[in-house]
Amino acid sequence: MTLEKTAERPATITGLFNQARENLKQRGVERPLPSQSNYLASAQENRELLDSIFIESRLLDPVTPDTSTALFGAKLKTPAFCSAVGRPDYLTDEDMVEVVRGMGKAGSLMMLGIGGSDLLQAAIDTGTPVVKMVKPYRNTDLIYQKVRDAEERGCLAVGMDIDHFYGVYRDGKADRTEIFAPKQTADIVQAISSTRLPFIIKGVLGVQDAVKAVQIGASAIVVSNHGWGAFDFGIPSIVALPRIAAAVGSRVTVLVDSGFRTGNDVFKALALGAKGVGLATSVLAAAGAGAEGVEQLIGFITDELKRTMAIAGCPSLAAIGQPLLVTSPRVAPWW
Ligand SMILES: Cc1cc2nc3c(=O)[nH]c(=O)nc-3n(C[C@H](O)[C@H](O)[C@H](O)COP(=O)(O)O)c2cc1C
Repeated sequence: MTLEKTAERPATITGLFNQARENLKQRGVERPLPSQSNYLASAQENRELLDSIFIESRLLDPVTPDTSTALFGAKLKTPAFCSAVGRPDYLTDEDMVEVVRGMGKAGSLMMLGIGGSDLLQAAIDTGTPVVKMVKPYRNTDLIYQKVRDAEERGCLAVGMDIDHFYGVYRDGKADRTEIFAPKQTADIVQAISSTRLPFIIKGVLGVQDAVKAVQIGASAIVVSNHGWGAFDFGIPSIVALPRIAAAVGSRVTVLVDSGFRTGNDVFKALALGAKGVGLATSVLAAAGAGAEGVEQLIGFITDELKRTMAIAGCPSLAAIGQPLLVTSPRVAPWW
C-alpha cells in the first residue's frame, strides 16, 4: 500500500507530523510508534539538558554556512541522518523504502536496523547511502552472515547495537532475550575482521566501552541509549558525548542519537564532539507523509541548523565548537 500523498506541504515540523499521523489514521493506525520505556529518566534529562544550553551569537562579520559533510565516504548535505531502524509493524517494506528514498533526497544517510536482505537490497537500490546495523544475535554465526550480506549488497558500513542484548524493556520485562544475547569482545573482533567495511559500535555511553571499541578496531561509535525500551538510567547521550569525544574523538568517528529532534539539537551535539546526529523517532514520525515528508523533515532540521550556524558565525560544521555554548546559570557545564 502506498501512503497518502497530500498536494500541500506543511510549513512546520509539527504540521508535517500531524499530516503523517492523519495519513496513517486513514489506514487504521491509531498509535504509530511503540510505547516508551517505563520511566524515561535518561530521556527526560537529555531533553532538559539540551534545553539548558544556549548558543553565543557572533553576528559581526557574517558568514555563509555550509552544512555539508562526509560519513563513511559518502558526501552528505547534512550531518542529520536516520539512525538505525527496523520496520515498525504498522509500516510496510515499501513504506520503509520510501523513508530511505526520502533520506537520500535530503542528501543524507540511512541506517537500517533489524530486518531482512530484501528490504536491505531495496534500500540500496534507491541510491541512498545505506549502513546496516546488525543485532547482537545469540547465534553468533548469524551476525557474521549478516555482516557479509551487508558488504556484498553494497552497504557503506556495518555495525552492531551492543546495547540491545536484553531486548526491548517495557512494562517491567525484557522481550526477545531468546534471540539477542550479550556478545563477548572476541565475537565482535571476528565480525570486524571479517569485513572490509568500516564497523560501527552503537550503544556506547561510557568512556571504557568507547576506548575498548577503538582498541578492537571499530571505525565509528554511536553514543546512544537506544530510545524507547532503553535503560531508564543510562547516561543521557548529551552528557556522555563530550567525555567520549574527548577520549576517542581523534581516533574514531563519534556519532550520537537518542532524543535529538531539531536543528539546534544537532548544533549542540556537534559542538560537544559529534560528527553526525541520528534521528529515529522523528524520521519514523514523518514516514506517514512518505519520502517527501522524510525529505522535508531533514530539510527543516538542516535549515534550522544552517540559520543557527549563521547566527553563531560558523561557516562550516568544523567551526561549531564548545566555546559557543553557554549553559543556563541553573546548570553547571558538564564538558
Ligand atoms: C521503531 C524503531 C526501531 C528501531 N530499530 C532499531 C534497530 O533495529 N537497531 C538499532 O540499533 N536501533 C534501533 N532503534 C533505535 C534507534 O536507532 C535510536 O537509537 C533510538 O530510537 C533513539 O533515537 P531517537 O530518540 O531519535 O528515536 C529503533 C528505534 C525505533 C523507534
